[in-house]
Amino acid sequence: MAFTIAIDGPAAAGKGTIGRALSRHFGFAHLDTGLLYRATGRRVLTGLDPVEAAQSLRAEDLEADDLRTPDVSQAASRVAAIPEVRQALLDFQRAFARRAGGAVLDGRDIGTVICPEAEVKLFVTASDEERARRRHKELSDGGHTATLDEVMDDLRQRDARDSARAAAPLKPAEDALRLDTSEMTIDQAVAAAVAEVDRAKARLGAL
Ligand code: CDP
Ligand code: CDP
Repeated sequence: MAFTIAIDGPAAAGKGTIGRALSRHFGFAHLDTGLLYRATGRRVLTGLDPVEAAQSLRAEDLEADDLRTPDVSQAASRVAAIPEVRQALLDFQRAFARRAGGAVLDGRDIGTVICPEAEVKLFVTASDEERARRRHKELSDGGHTATLDEVMDDLRQRDARDSARAAAPLKPAEDALRLDTSEMTIDQAVAAAVAEVDRAKARLGAL
């Protein structure tokens, strides 16, 4: 049976961390949809046309080791505003969302566009400062040299662009549970997400 958990929210809010934890907990497959846009943006930085880059994306493109740099993040956010790029990546995400055995997808438009019928929708947020601190630590731990200010600028620019675009803008679905993780540990955020999925499962089981 298909069961989809849609996780959306601004940059570095903890979507992927919660998504990975839910996929382990419930035995669901997990797709970080940001990787599709990052891999497309990275290919565009090497000179490819954005739509062509999205249409010919391969699995190994999602494994490049520089997908998290601020340059690639910005390129991802720019290509993500192009409707034909989003269209090229749509069918793959929809099929993933409705696969048998359950799926968790995280991104910007999962609950609004990719899978409006998702059984669970979470909109994960945290303050700008907290998100920048978390992403900066993650990048530093990975050996990248971006400063905290550079990381903050990248997040703010992308959030503004992602929210303002006409095609599938970043916004909570009306029926999404909002989870502000600014003051939460990872374990607390994951526990709140697990509880919401358990509630949905109980509700659906009772139908
Ligand atoms: O990890 P972080 O939240 O910083 O970014 P990401 O989820 O990897 O997404 C990178 C960029 O891809 C975002 O800034 C968006 O512009 C775009 N994106 C999107 O438009 N729609 C999605 N479903 C996922 C990502
Ligand atoms: O997927 P998204 O860009 O929304 O965020 P993420 O990559 O899951 O989380 C960004 C960083 O924040 C990671 O290094 C997480 O370990 C960390 N994090 C945290 O410190 N506290 C949380 N409640 C959630 C994530």
